[in-house]
Amino acid sequence: MKICVLNGSPKGKESITLQYVRFLELANPGHTFTTENIGQHIAAIEAKEEEFKKVIASIESADAVLFATPVYYMLVPAQFKRFIELLFSHNAGSAFTGKYAASLTTSIHFFDHTANEYLHAVAEDLGMRWTGSFMAKMDDLLIEKHQENLIRFGQDFLDTAQRHPAIRRTYPPIISNPAEYRSAGVPMPLDCGGKEVVILTDAAPGSNLEKMTTRLASCFGKSASLVPIDEAKMNGGCLGCCRCAYDNTCVYTDGFSEFWKEDVLPADIIILAGTVKDRYLSAAFKQVFDRSFFMGHVPAFPGKQVAFLIEGPVAQCSTLQEIMRAYPSLQGANLAGVVSDEAGISMAIDEQIDALAARCLRLSMSGYVAPGGFPAVAGHKIFRDDIWGEMRPFFRADHAYYKKHGLYDFPQNDLRQRISTAFLSFILSFSKAQEGAKKEMKQRMLQPFEKVLADSPVLKRQKKEG
Ligand SMILES: Cc1cc2nc3c(=O)[nH]c(=O)nc-3n(C[C@H](O)[C@H](O)[C@H](O)COP(=O)(O)O)c2cc1C
Repeated sequence: MKICVLNGSPKGKESITLQYVRFLELANPGHTFTTENIGQHIAAIEAKEEEFKKVIASIESADAVLFATPVYYMLVPAQFKRFIELLFSHNAGSAFTGKYAASLTTSIHFFDHTANEYLHAVAEDLGMRWTGSFMAKMDDLLIEKHQENLIRFGQDFLDTAQRHPAIRRTYPPIISNPAEYRSAGVPMPLDCGGKEVVILTDAAPGSNLEKMTTRLASCFGKSASLVPIDEAKMNGGCLGCCRCAYDNTCVYTDGFSEFWKEDVLPADIIILAGTVKDRYLSAAFKQVFDRSFFMGHVPAFPGKQVAFLIEGPVAQCSTLQEIMRAYPSLQGANLAGVVSDEAGISMAIDEQIDALAARCLRLSMSGYVAPGGFPAVAGHKIFRDDIWGEMRPFFRADHAYYKKHGLYDFPQNDLRQRISTAFLSFILSFSKAQEGAKKEMKQRMLQPFEKVLADSPVLKRQKKEG
């Protein structure tokens, strides 16, 4: 069989992900693997019709397609995202229709599931049948048990593509009935109390999103700056070189780093206003996230409010919604809300926008940041362990930040907890103590809270302040 490998890494042949593909190739000499380095050559593929056609011809001649890509910011690199947009805008779906597809990602397992879900959904939109995802941690291939597992994945993919079984579609097709949004007048600006707002947008002229951002900006009056993504001064997508790891200096000198540090990060309220393209925001928006990697794995927006203003069927894009929910909390911020034009009724959208502006301000003033829950806690632990572990020699800027800000909160560093746990474990090794503990389990668990409810200084302060 002929397998077309679409490589999303901007590193082309020097991609780690491609080493996994190479391994699969060596394990399956009876099949032909043809790799298209999409991420690296996106500029030529986009600019030259013949380059795009060459890739499409390679897909057409293949029996199955393997999406092989690194995970960048919970998705695929912006360059690969752009290619996916081109497939839809050039109506190239027929090259894929009916073929079997799978994905192979390398990453540090931070939101690799969302990247793979995205590819799965896009492949189904292209009429393909999904056989599965192989989500490797970047160094897994160095270990024999993972090599064996990769071979099993390859066998399943190739067998399935050969057998042509029926496969259930997981992500229903998107049904979009956009209605024109017209804002009713200009709202009175709110009292922003010195809070600064930045609205980063990829709105097309005359689009619903442009009108929505204009209304939201009016709610904040002079405190808001409306910044089109075109002004982010990006000459290209992140190259994945990781040279920024040492001291947060990007190899690009196009002005994006200054833009990010001076125009976005200082704001108290950050609004990301984007258009749904396939099942995510635009590749241009994705490029902003990827390029912000020069700041490393440190929370970018600690204590701030983040909100999304979306044009398009975001409610039908489960992966995009998951990313939008998780991204702010992973950056140390609070998700103040999401408003889209899906309601289709202008007055309802106006009300949602006005309410969002008021909520952003209210929460910014109170300093509320909702606990991030599982994604934020799990994400922090992955970064903490990996930065302290193998990434520390290179990601020196991250290491310094984690040390300074107490982010190396390993349980083994808490001596008091370790002593009390050891002591309690010893006591509870006696059956009599176990019996007693079992009987009193519920009360014992509540004991520390009784003290908080009886005399918390925070409650007392709040009472005083009225
Ligand atoms: C800009 C950028 C963003 C990244 N984002 C993620 C991420 O969200 N989750 C993750 O687990 N790894 C992330 N990584 C790590 C890469 O996925 C990982 O290093 C991958 O193995 C690189 O593969 P490649 O050499 O094939 O490009 C990121 C790396 C870069 C450079």
